Amino acid sequence: MKKIVILVSGSGSNLQRIIDTCQSGEIQNAKVSLVVADRECYGLVRAAKHHIKSELIPKGKNFSSELAQIIPEDTDLIVLAGFLSILKPEFCEQWKGKIINIHPALLPKFGGKGMWGMHVHHAVIEAKEKESGATVHYVTSGIDEGEIILQEGFAIDDTDTAESIAEKIHLVEFEIFPKAINKILNSHAI
Ligand code: GRF
Repeated sequence: MKKIVILVSGSGSNLQRIIDTCQSGEIQNAKVSLVVADRECYGLVRAAKHHIKSELIPKGKNFSSELAQIIPEDTDLIVLAGFLSILKPEFCEQWKGKIINIHPALLPKFGGKGMWGMHVHHAVIEAKEKESGATVHYVTSGIDEGEIILQEGFAIDDTDTAESIAEKIHLVEFEIFPKAINKILNSHAI
């Protein structure tokens, strides 16, 4: 059984989706073995409800080195699911090809420093974009710059607000995240 470590900072609805799709078999032969949060958040409650081991490492300059120490060597994939700290380049290098993130926009547009949460959706509206969506990509030291694994968009209509876009993006994320994870786990020579 492959082992997935999930990093969260917030509500953890994507974490929930990954737990559920591991259980249903949509993500094959894998389980969430550890949840790590950088702050108190509902993601930790979700982990506890499913009896998944969890750790809280407070955000700050030592986060990446403390994280490196607690992630088991036999971890197959590290998944950032609504995780807000920036990981150190050495950590990204150490786990290269085995660490992914979901971003609530169609990268390479609307990525990089400051582009997180509602900031992204407000920027999309401001720019009068005709579409938005979600992207699963590899994590590298460049923020939101790693290779794209899977991406899906939808049309923005005149009645959309930043909030309605955020909701629609969550639905896209619930579709593409399990697919991307399955794809990676099944292509790794592990
Ligand atoms: C998602 O939209 C994700 O793309 C972004 O933060 C949100 C996290 O939502 N990075 P949740 O905590 O999974 O509900």
